[in-house]
Amino acid sequence: MPADITALQEITKALVAPGKGILAADESLPTIEKRFKALGVESTEEERRAYRELLFTTPEIEKYISGIIMFDETLRLASLAQGKPAAKILEERGIIPGIKVDMGKVDFPGFPNEEFTQGLDGLGKRLEEYVGLGAQFAKWRVVIAISESSPTRPVLEANMTGLAIYAGFCQQAGLVPIVEPEVLMDGNHDIAKCAGVTKQMLEILFKKFFEYKIVPEASLLKVNMILPGKDSAQKASPEEVAKQTLETLKSAVSVAIPGIVFLSGGQSPLEATANLDAINKLASSVPWQLSFSYGRALQEPALVAWAGKVENVAFAQKKFLKRAKMNSVARDGKWEERMENERD
Ligand code: 13P
Repeated sequence: MPADITALQEITKALVAPGKGILAADESLPTIEKRFKALGVESTEEERRAYRELLFTTPEIEKYISGIIMFDETLRLASLAQGKPAAKILEERGIIPGIKVDMGKVDFPGFPNEEFTQGLDGLGKRLEEYVGLGAQFAKWRVVIAISESSPTRPVLEANMTGLAIYAGFCQQAGLVPIVEPEVLMDGNHDIAKCAGVTKQMLEILFKKFFEYKIVPEASLLKVNMILPGKDSAQKASPEEVAKQTLETLKSAVSVAIPGIVFLSGGQSPLEATANLDAINKLASSVPWQLSFSYGRALQEPALVAWAGKVENVAFAQKKFLKRAKMNSVARDGKWEERMENERD
């Protein structure tokens, strides 16, 4: 049981405060290397530091971003900008520091196409250390792929159990758990298949929440929107995505969870904004805040504009601020496409 449930609930509410959402800047070393490589930038510690610094020091970003999820390396840097560690820089701006704590995925023995998220061994000790470094919330991601043969019930059960155990360790350590089960967009399945798998996954998740005594009021759910597979011939309008997403969430998510934050999962920045807006336009009388916790959809234009060059920092920060602002408006269901071209 958490030491101070009220304090955790306050952090949870602040993370999904009106007009605000979360930036996921917790790319692991192989992932950030892949993103940098596409732009011809070498993934050295100095380049990674420069890039995170660009994001974390963007002027006015605290108007739209409530919290930032970091990778272990970033949280540990003794000095990010102005000689200060990352958590301190964020806190001084009123942004809540967070940390990704899973240890990545491995192939699930005996279950082709399926993966298991690791990191439970020694988790309690690591969380204590992260609290000492200034983290106030955490993230653990599980990935569910749709194929002819997957997902299977045993692998869903194992991964949802892992998420619940992780959430328990977080609440005990005084960290708000972001619980992230992601149904991937990869594949040629239709939107109904994504809805069915996501519903099944979430039903198991909340059963595990109950069994493992997780306090839903002090947790956030981070999940995929309901979309057709990337290689499917089917295209879904934002209104259709919104309808399917809300139906699925209403059928399976605990009403006690204060907020649901979506991942972008390979949608373009514009799609991720338009879909979030449509969800919020359609959502009346739902018990949750519906916001964003995007990685790629918030960072992509800024990363491309930066391309590893110090002279591009200010321009890249403008791009990042623009995406944060557009998603903030969408998170309240007030976005219109023409706003994309407005000068700020
Ligand atoms: P994307 O928005 O790029 O999917 O990243 C979100 C995230 O944190 C994945 O774990």
